[in-house]
Parts: sequence; C-alpha cells; structure tokens
Amino acid sequence: MHKIIVTGGTGYIGSHTVVALQEKNYEVVIVDNLVNSSEKTVDRIEEITGIRPAFFPIDMTHQEGLRKFFRLHADAKAVIHFAALKAVGESVQQPLLYYRNNMLGMINLMDAMLEFGVQNLVFSSSATVYGTPDSLPLTEKNSTKPALSPYGNTKKIGEDMIEDVVKANPDFRAISLRYFNPIGAHKSGKIGELPSGIPNNLMPFITQTAIGLRKELLVFGDDYDTPDGTAVRDYIHVVDLAEAHVKTVGRMINQQQKADYEIFNLGTGKGSTVLEVIKSFEKTSGKKLNYRIVGRRDGDVEQMYAATDLANQELNWKAKYSLDDMTASSWNWEQKVRGLEEQDSFN
Ligand code: NAD
Ligand code: WQD
Repeated sequence: MHKIIVTGGTGYIGSHTVVALQEKNYEVVIVDNLVNSSEKTVDRIEEITGIRPAFFPIDMTHQEGLRKFFRLHADAKAVIHFAALKAVGESVQQPLLYYRNNMLGMINLMDAMLEFGVQNLVFSSSATVYGTPDSLPLTEKNSTKPALSPYGNTKKIGEDMIEDVVKANPDFRAISLRYFNPIGAHKSGKIGELPSGIPNNLMPFITQTAIGLRKELLVFGDDYDTPDGTAVRDYIHVVDLAEAHVKTVGRMINQQQKADYEIFNLGTGKGSTVLEVIKSFEKTSGKKLNYRIVGRRDGDVEQMYAATDLANQELNWKAKYSLDDMTASSWNWEQKVRGLEEQDSFN
C-alpha cells in the first residue's frame, strides 16, 4: 500500500481526492491547519470509505512542525499539495497574508521533501495563470500572463518555484495541475464546498440563494461576446478532478513521466455560460432561482475553457460528469450540509 501525503486534505478538493485515493487502496495522511475546513471532514471521509485517514493539524508555514511530521512519514511516495488560501478578493486586500501562507507553505514543504527524500510533488495550480486568453481552447502551451490578483500570483510563483527546484534536484519530480472551475460534490452529500461568509464563486452562491441564505444571485454582465451574453467557464465536477489526482499520482509512482516537471489542464473542454449554469440548476433542483443581471465584475474574463487532450492522453483520464450532474450534486450537498449543521455544527 503506497502512502500519499495530502496537504489541505480536509478542504473541498482535498477531501474528494482523499476519498478517491482510499478507494484505489492508497494510504492517506492529511496535513491541514483547518483555517478553511473542519476536522469533522475526517469523520465524513471515514463514513464514505470505511477508512479513517490519519490527520495532522499542522500549519505549513511552521517549518519545524512540518519537519517533525516528515520525519514520521518519509516513506510517503508522493505529496499532493492543496493547502493554500484561495479567496481572490481577500488576497487583494491582504497580499502579504497570501504570499506568506501560500509561498512559505510551499517552501517549507519542498525543503522537507528534499530533506526526507520524498520525491514526487503534485501541485494545485489554476487556470488563472493564463489570465485573459490569447486563444481558445486554452492548451498548456498558451502563455501565462501577469496575475490579476496576489492569489493568482501565488499560483504562478508556485509553478516557477517548482520548476527551479526540479532543475536543481535530479531526483525530484513534479506535476502541476491547472484546474478550471471545480464545482459539485460527492454523491453521498457528506463532503462538499463550504465557503465561509458570503460566497464569491457562482455555484455556492446559487445553492445558498436557492436555500434562502441569500436574497438573490447577481449575474455579472450580459454584454459579453458569448451565445447569451454571460461569461463562459469550464466547470468541472470535483469528483472528476479527484480522479485526475489519483491518475497523476499513479503516473509519478510508476515513473511514467515524460519530463521531470509536467503541467496539465484539468477541465471538461466544454464552456458553459452563467445562464446555462442557472438553467441546469433550475432543472436538476426543480427550484426557480431568484437572479438579476447587473454590470460586469472587475477582473472577470469573458471566456475560458480548456483543451483537455494532453490530460486525456497522458493521464489516461477524461472528465465524465455533465453540468447537470454537477448542479444536482451541489444542490444535494447544500441541502444535506444545512441539515448536518443543525445536528453538530459542521464548520
Ligand atoms: P479549500 O480552502 O477548501 O482547501 C484548502 C485547505 O488548505 C483548507 O482545508 C485549509 O484549511 C488548508 N490550508 C490553508 N492554508 C494552510 C496552511 N498554512 N497549513 C495547512 N493547511 C492550510 O480550497 P479548495 O477549493 O479545496 O482548493 C484546494 C487547492 O486548489 C488550493 O491550492 C486552491 O488554490 C487550488 N485551486 C482551487 C480552485 C477552486 O476553484 N476551488 C481552483 C483552482 C485551484
Ligand atoms: C464564474 C462566473 C462570474 C458569482 C474564480 C477564481 C479562480 C479560480 C476559480 C482558484 C463568472 C459569474 C459569479 C456571482 C456571477 N479559483 N458570477 N455571480 O471567477 O471564473 O474563478 O474561482 O484558483 O482563480 O478567480 O469563478 O465562480 O467566481 O465565477 O455572475 O455571484 O460566474 O462573473 O463569469 P471565476 P466564479
């Protein structure tokens, strides 16, 4: 049984990936300081898979704590690094919080990996590194752009740091995965995305409006050059994303990489407009959504969707869930989590 360290493993994408890894018989060890998640997620993972992942409440910015942890787990075959702060707006307000947390966390992580001989790193990157696309669909060969936010910059710098570390250390290998727009939740409704405060992202805003936590959804702009005027994104089911991580880890452990540092887009290849997401949600939930069109949101790009050929070929992976699957599972989660919150205050 191969041991995999998952940083940020109680978070949204991390928890789904832990489940997918356990289902493929990997032994998972989670590191998370719970700044944006709850330890109850460990219980939920156990309820889904029947296996309790080991959990270490460590802050990645604390080098000594992380070193002690790696001393115990130097036999791990790979690290999947999800742990980061991710709120774009907050990063504009508090850039140093983001640089300290996301960059120092990665420096400490790679230091410890090199010291203890853990040589395979999977990094959660983002399609945000492409900025405003020159051409669509976005392939991994599209140029990256100056980041639109400190958060986005931490992903760009993270990729650059990894590239340099790989060059300097012949035994160290890495894969960056550039996620497009992850939404949806596990079919059990036991894990999902639980934003703290008012959501910035579309899908949680939709489900929170439908359940009555928000008065109305504001649709940002209907004057884009798209089929219905609203902006286009490549939404991907978080369970598909989790599967891609399992394939990525397999590629690394089985030494199938074609270069010591590789980059893959993770999307479906299909763009959907905001109104299409709303229509899908109304169809799968059977609820009418209260929404209103307003002006564009600063910093939004018109259209983004991935070319998925490289991930399809090299990872032997393809997203299989539809937009309806995504909106249905998000709604299932929203309803269940509100129930769960009443029982045991989930967050
Ligand atoms: P999340 O906030 O749910 O999960 C991140 C986890 O990292 C949280 O559980 C948090 O407590 C933990 N964490 C943060 N800082 C830490 C630290 N210093 N030490 C230990 N743990 C720490 O976010 P997510 O949506 O699951 O995102 C996971 C990763 O994917 C992040 O790196 C994010 O930037 C990246 N990503 C997310 C999206 C998205 O839309 N969700 C898109 C592209 C990339
Ligand atoms: C999607 C679409 C909005 C909310 C962000 C980050 C990105 C990545 C994923 C981590 C856009 C519209 C949204 C609302 C709306 N995260 N919208 N009303 O902006 O593509 O990407 O999350 O790396 O870095 O920037 O995702 O879900 O915020 O927006 O109309 O209340 O929905 O304008 O067109 P985005 P999103």
